[in-house]
Amino acid sequence: MVKLTGREEAMLAGEEGAAVQKAMELLIRYADALGAEDFVETNNVAGVPGSAPPWIKQYYAADGGDYRAVFSRFDLDADEVVDIPRMNAFSCHLQGGMDPMLWREQGMSEAAFDNFRSDEQQVAEHGIQLLKTCTPYLAGNVPVMGEHCAWMESSAVIFCNSVIGGRTNCEGRESTSAAMLARRIPNWGFHRDEYRKGQHSVDVAVPVDDVFEWGMLGYFVGGEVQDTIPVIEGAIAAPSLIRHKHFGAAAASSGGVEMYHMVGITPEAPGVEAAFGGARRGETFCYDAAARRRTYETLNSVGQCEDVDYVMLGCPHYSIEQIAHAAGLIEGRKVHSNSALWIFTSRSVKALADANGHTETLRKAGALLMTDTCSAISQAVPEGTRVAALDSAKQVHYLPAMMGIEGWYGTTADCIDAACSGKWRGRLA
Ligand code: F3S
Repeated sequence: MVKLTGREEAMLAGEEGAAVQKAMELLIRYADALGAEDFVETNNVAGVPGSAPPWIKQYYAADGGDYRAVFSRFDLDADEVVDIPRMNAFSCHLQGGMDPMLWREQGMSEAAFDNFRSDEQQVAEHGIQLLKTCTPYLAGNVPVMGEHCAWMESSAVIFCNSVIGGRTNCEGRESTSAAMLARRIPNWGFHRDEYRKGQHSVDVAVPVDDVFEWGMLGYFVGGEVQDTIPVIEGAIAAPSLIRHKHFGAAAASSGGVEMYHMVGITPEAPGVEAAFGGARRGETFCYDAAARRRTYETLNSVGQCEDVDYVMLGCPHYSIEQIAHAAGLIEGRKVHSNSALWIFTSRSVKALADANGHTETLRKAGALLMTDTCSAISQAVPEGTRVAALDSAKQVHYLPAMMGIEGWYGTTADCIDAACSGKWRGRLA
């Protein structure tokens, strides 16, 4: 049984209100299922608290079918509906289901938008920051090394653990919503030193020097090590934040990687011994020219037809640097009449893109810069899409399978060319 502090006992007894009490009850069940001995305090929680499509609200119609009902019964798994106060931890809302301005272009109905708007108002009124992104670390929520967080979203979790040295498991909606109220999360998994050590080696034998290559390396690594912690060594120079973002997202998709070390690069791996917490262990996987080609072929195995009718960029959500790059590549060109280009980012990064003129450059070319969501999350693609081109290994992994379409993986330049020509010409150099 998880051991409680006096403050936690008081929360469980209802001294901080019924919602906090229900949150503690849920967290205790969760901690006991994990075998955690106690809780850590957290003041950095990222989830999707209380938001729900109309069919979920309908499911809770007998309880009122509103935010309060969904938060109580769905998020907190409570046996009764309770009043939901403002959150106690610093709390952020991750990505959502539609763009707040371009929802019509995404094919959303007026009713779905009304529901979105009402949820959003509730979220803000409960003291939850509307970051609306899978990249909170690009939108104002940057943990510090060692900070205990409770985050959902696999690409954000792997970035937090590996690149920043923050500490989070890949949480779910229920645990994050409860943690927002109780400021607690079980002291288990990546919160503990002993679970943060490397388990296998990856020897990189070919140069990996752009986002496209880092995405492929991440996809290879996840496929090999699955849900363990890889230690990456060899022919790698310190990747930029963007390259880490694409590497981690890919590794979390092809496997279930939630943390990696890069020797001499990531903060908990100054050397091999620190990365493994002692002697090297596990298997060694070699990423050589043959493995690189195999990975490229796997990622492109869902592409047959070279007529591209949709290009999606921004998985994980694009940074301002990536938007500037894409705008530079398309400036003076036009998206082909048989194709469409949608780029996804967070609201805060879009505000920067607006201020810097990138949104307008993209708009003049016929591209749309969207926020809050992506095609996989919203399941929204331009009408009639049969073949998509993507610069994200993660998105190639998910979108074609989810939408029953074909998909190509290539560089950002390959994708912009496809959007402007309507043809896929990407090849492995
Ligand atoms: Fe983000 Fe969607 Fe990719 S929410 S990580 S852009 S699948």
